[in-house]
Amino acid sequence: MGPCSFTMTTKHTPPPESTKTWSGRFSEPVSELVKRYTASVFFDRRMATQDIRGSLAHARMLARQGILSGEDLADIERGMAQIADEIARGEFQWNLDDEDVHLNIEKRLTALVGDAGKRLHTGRSRNDQVATDIRLWLRETIDRILELIMAFQRRLLEVAEAHAATPMPGFTHLQVAQPVTFGHHLLAYYEMTRRDFDRFADCRRRVNCLPLGAAALAGTSYPIARESVAAELGFDELCRNSLDAVSDRDFAIEFCAASALLMTHLSRLSEEIILWMNPRVGFIDLADRFCTGSSIMPQKKNPDVPELVRGKTGRINGHLVALLTLMKGQPLAYNKDNQEDKEPLFDTADTVTDTLRIYADMIGGIQVKPDNMRTALAQGHATATDLADYLVKKGLPFRDAHEAVALAVRAAEGRGLDISRLSPDELRAALACVPGAAERLDEDALSAISIEGSLCARAHPGGTAPDTVRAAITRAREELGAPT
Ligand code: ARG
Repeated sequence: MGPCSFTMTTKHTPPPESTKTWSGRFSEPVSELVKRYTASVFFDRRMATQDIRGSLAHARMLARQGILSGEDLADIERGMAQIADEIARGEFQWNLDDEDVHLNIEKRLTALVGDAGKRLHTGRSRNDQVATDIRLWLRETIDRILELIMAFQRRLLEVAEAHAATPMPGFTHLQVAQPVTFGHHLLAYYEMTRRDFDRFADCRRRVNCLPLGAAALAGTSYPIARESVAAELGFDELCRNSLDAVSDRDFAIEFCAASALLMTHLSRLSEEIILWMNPRVGFIDLADRFCTGSSIMPQKKNPDVPELVRGKTGRINGHLVALLTLMKGQPLAYNKDNQEDKEPLFDTADTVTDTLRIYADMIGGIQVKPDNMRTALAQGHATATDLADYLVKKGLPFRDAHEAVALAVRAAEGRGLDISRLSPDELRAALACVPGAAERLDEDALSAISIEGSLCARAHPGGTAPDTVRAAITRAREELGAPT
């Protein structure tokens, strides 16, 4: 490019103290407030490693393509190594004047290596640069989350195995419904988190596409080789359309959606843990390290960690809605709005990561109280369905059996007893109102309506019979494989 002739013909005088990358275009600097308002360096600097990796891959491609000299590349590599070192040591001077992580690093590179630093941005824009950085950052984050989900699941399976045969009341409408084993109950959360795992893994496929090469929005006139950049950075595919490449944040939204569902599952488990450790229920106790006391009530042991998981789920749902709303009105291609994607994304990742870490430890350390579970089971006529099923198997139509057992429950209630506590004669008397019911009751009825009888009868796939639960745990372990 020749000398800047337009500066001769206009009255342009750059503000003397301005060091902005684009200062040539403007006649006055932004105010301090605008500077702070538009800057992102205080949060996007956590993508510094990814920014450097992306820049190096870009520079190497430029050199391979003959767009950058070997000497310039060597300077850039040397400068970037020093910058990476300064950042790792906490010595790098982040500067608000340079707006974001990308300009801060480029500025420092130029200070260290001169013209080669100024050539780095050839054929590139911050628009495809930032999209690349986020995708690199998110890919690493997802890989970490996948590991953490598996670590949580392994701890969950340990507890489930120890309690594969521990009976507890299963609830519907939060009323005692039917016996299940505590192991079976926990395996429901294994299934939820298995789907979460699949969702994150699936999201990763769409994260792992390379935007670089799209430049500002229209691509670039240099003879770039995008495939080689993708290969160096471990991207499986190229973003196929330059406009979409710089403006797409679907992958971030998908990540937040997967996170919101994961947190929803952990929030439900938290709600149960809180309920279970209420002294009126007393099914479990949490290790003290997950609880806090009260500043006024000396006796309190509050389940703060599960309560916070439940609470933080609201914030993660909020981040999802924030990102959806951020995108809904944006015309193609890049808009500065997109800078607002990072804080919700980072906070989502941090919250999910911390929550999974804490949860694996918390669930692995719960103290289960089987006696209290059994006592609760003896209070809700939990095997009434088993009695009805028993009568059906002896030939009574199900609706008649249901009616007869409902009457028996009423009789037992009248005496303040659980149905399982009635003697065979008392049961027969209670069933007598429905023709054909009482006479179908034989000796084997009592074992059919015992807790263990009820559990063992449900041995089909997905059932709560202890052996079935153990088989489900074995299969889950096979799916999980050995820890890496
Ligand atoms: N800090 C910006 C962001 O996070 C980088 C891209 C800026 N691009 C631009 N054309 N202003 O989105």
